Amino acid sequence: MRIRKAVFPVAGMGTRFLPATKASAKEMLPVVDKPLIQYAVQEAISAGAEELIFITGRSKNSIMDHFDKAYELEAELAQKGKEALLQTVQEILPPGITCIFIRQAEALGLGHAVLCAWPAVGDEDFSVILADDLIDGRLRPCLAQMQRVYQEYGTSVIACERIPKEDTGSYGVVEVQPVGPGLGEIRRIVEKPKPEEAPSNIAVVGRYILTPRIFKLIQSTPRGKGGEIQLTDAIQAMIQEQTVLAYEFEGTRYDCGSKLGYLKANVEYGLKHPELATEFRDYLGNLTANWGQGEKSDARKK
Ligand code: UTP
Repeated sequence: MRIRKAVFPVAGMGTRFLPATKASAKEMLPVVDKPLIQYAVQEAISAGAEELIFITGRSKNSIMDHFDKAYELEAELAQKGKEALLQTVQEILPPGITCIFIRQAEALGLGHAVLCAWPAVGDEDFSVILADDLIDGRLRPCLAQMQRVYQEYGTSVIACERIPKEDTGSYGVVEVQPVGPGLGEIRRIVEKPKPEEAPSNIAVVGRYILTPRIFKLIQSTPRGKGGEIQLTDAIQAMIQEQTVLAYEFEGTRYDCGSKLGYLKANVEYGLKHPELATEFRDYLGNLTANWGQGEKSDARKK
C-alpha cells in the first residue's frame, strides 16, 4: 500500500504575497536556495510518489520549466566544469518520476483544484501537498509519517497541528475522537471558524492522503466560505461515509503563504544550510547583539 500519485495545487492567486506574486508563482519563492515547490516534490518522492500532478494557473509556467530538463544550462555547466552545480540541477527531478500539468482555468478554490486532478489520479488513493506549508519533519518527512498511518489503517489521513485558539479563522478546524497518541477520527471539520465557534484548536495543514471518493463529493459541493469550492466541505461529507483520520505530525511547519512564516523559514533553513550555517549564525548573533544599541543610538539622534 503505497501512494504513487501526489497532487500539488499551485493555482492560487497568492494575494498575501503581492507584489512578489503578480507575475510569478508563490510556490517558486525560494527558501534559501530551493523553491518551495521543490521541497514539496522532494517530500512526496521520499514518501514513494512516482507521479506528480501539478494543478497550475496563470503565471505558473516557471513551475513547469523548473521540473523540465534545461539542456542549454546543463551543457553550459558541463562545459565550464561546474560539476556540483550540474548535479544540483540534474537532481531536481530524479529518474523514473513523471510530471503531469493540469490547468485550473479559474481559481475556484482548493476543492476545485483537487477535482481538476481526477483524470490523472483515477481510482486510487493519492496525496495532496500544499507547497506553501513547508514542513521540517525532523526524523521523517511529514508525508512519510502520514504514509505509515495510512499503511496501518488504510483510510484517508489529514495532517493537523494545534494552533492558538485565536487563529482558527485561518484554518480548517477539526473535532476528533481520539484513536491513539496524536491520532483521532474526524467527527466534524469546519472551514475558518471564528474562535468562539471552533470545535477545537486542532487545525488542518497542507498535507492530505485521500481516497478517490473525494472527487465525487467535491463535484456535489456547493461554493462555501469566500465563494470558493472548499476541500474542507467535501471532507465533511466524506466523514459521513468513511473514516478520515487527523494525524498530528512531528516537526515544525512554516506558513510560507504568509510573509512572517516565510521569513522564519528562511532564517531557520539558513541556520541549517551546510554552506551558510556558520557565517549566517555569526551574522545573526552580531545583528541581535547590536540590535538594542542601534535602537538606543537611533533614539539619541532624535
Ligand atoms: P491559499 O488559501 O493559500 O490561497 O490556497 P492562495 O491564493 O494561494 O494565497 P492567498 O491566500 O491569496 O495569499 C491554498 C493552496 O491551494 C491552492 C494554492 O495554490 C495553495 O497551494 N489553490 C487555491 C489552488 O490551486 N486553486 C485555487 O483555486 C485556490
